[in-house]
Amino acid sequence: MNLDVLLGLQWGDEGKGKIVDFLAPKYQLVARFQGGPNAGHTLEFDGIKHVLHQIPSGIFHEGIQNVIGNGVVIDPVVFMKEIEALKPYGVPYQRNLFISKKAHLILPTHRLLDAASEAAKGKEKIGSTLRGIGPAYMDKTGRNGLRVGDILSPDFKKRYQKLVDKHKGLLEFYRYEYDLNESEPAFFEAIEQLKELRLADTEYMLSEALQQGKRVLAEGAQGTLLDIEFGSYPYVTSSHTTTAGACIGLGVAPKAVHEVLGIFKAYCTRVGSGPFPTELNDETGEAIRRAGHEFGSTTGRSRRCGWLDLPALRYACMLNGVTQLFMMKADVLSGFDEIKVCTHYKLSDGTITRQMPYCLLNEPVEPVYETLPGWSGNIEASTAYEDLPRNLRHYVNFIEEYLHLPIALVSIGPDRAQTILRKNVFSM
Ligand code: IMP
Repeated sequence: MNLDVLLGLQWGDEGKGKIVDFLAPKYQLVARFQGGPNAGHTLEFDGIKHVLHQIPSGIFHEGIQNVIGNGVVIDPVVFMKEIEALKPYGVPYQRNLFISKKAHLILPTHRLLDAASEAAKGKEKIGSTLRGIGPAYMDKTGRNGLRVGDILSPDFKKRYQKLVDKHKGLLEFYRYEYDLNESEPAFFEAIEQLKELRLADTEYMLSEALQQGKRVLAEGAQGTLLDIEFGSYPYVTSSHTTTAGACIGLGVAPKAVHEVLGIFKAYCTRVGSGPFPTELNDETGEAIRRAGHEFGSTTGRSRRCGWLDLPALRYACMLNGVTQLFMMKADVLSGFDEIKVCTHYKLSDGTITRQMPYCLLNEPVEPVYETLPGWSGNIEASTAYEDLPRNLRHYVNFIEEYLHLPIALVSIGPDRAQTILRKNVFSM
């Protein structure tokens, strides 16, 4: 079967949007399987930057069908704004975009609950994007949620009201002040617009496509270290960001999975709270942030930066069954005399390990670094792997040897064209 899964191996923002857009011509379908408007997938081509939140990153390619799977939570208002932003580019979304009827809806009160819950947590706040993700998934697993298919039902408003009344009780508990009149009209307007789009039983659609031998790319959002099961709980998002999440969030059987394409940055970033062993709270961290423009594409928040964490990356490769690695933002590390890579963790009792402890909060680790020689110069115009500086290629080899996996692609800039495929390991 031909389902390839592409996902982030760190704390999100690895550059998945760029790669999905780059690889899309090799596929007939691109499908998002989890997350929602908390994601911000940036695509840059022809000198224009596009940011997608809920719409799959294959949307700019004529002839590719894009699916929003059942595992995604959809904010209709944000969604319709995304559609508006596509219109000037003549993107045939009416034909090429399919939304699972089983995807859950984010209501205006979910956003309010997200804000109220974060405010109540005080210093322990998750650093949520405040897009209503946690509360929407809570209603889903609590079996109270509303799904996209429900908007076609004559009693939708009644069911909406029932859920909103429950939310109002919770908001009262939080003593949170709000005015729903500000957000409800836009919500219902967006619901009407959503009805005009292609709402489908996408699990059947994907199954038929796979049976016909079509190639499907499942596009992950956030990253493995933010996964609800395996991330640094509770500083995580509320969905399954791993390969298994692609099966759940699209309704495809595990045996359909072929390649697992793991995306990572040449260094680490994290936005929001939570443990980050290799974080650099110094001038080097600041230099990485500046060079990498490390500011959130959804919230604009500045991202925390640090050196590459190989034990964490190894953990992510293990959980996802990664078959090929894609290294992003290699250009950002250009200009450092030396580059550090965390190869092990030192535990408080002195033990040196490559294993992720149960809870990084209770068991803080000290990163053990190996120092590698840096490289310099503007590499953004390089077109062949052999043209890249020797020390950068050495860095690539070092990571490959540590993880026992090939790095099939090296990205050297934000544009579609600034992507170097290493043909020797890229077998697609
Ligand atoms: P939530 O998913 O908005 O509830 O946020 C939970 C945590 O995940 C916070 O630390 C967010 O900053 C982080 N997060 C959520 N979505 C993304 C993303 O797309 N990129 C990076 N971090 C994210």
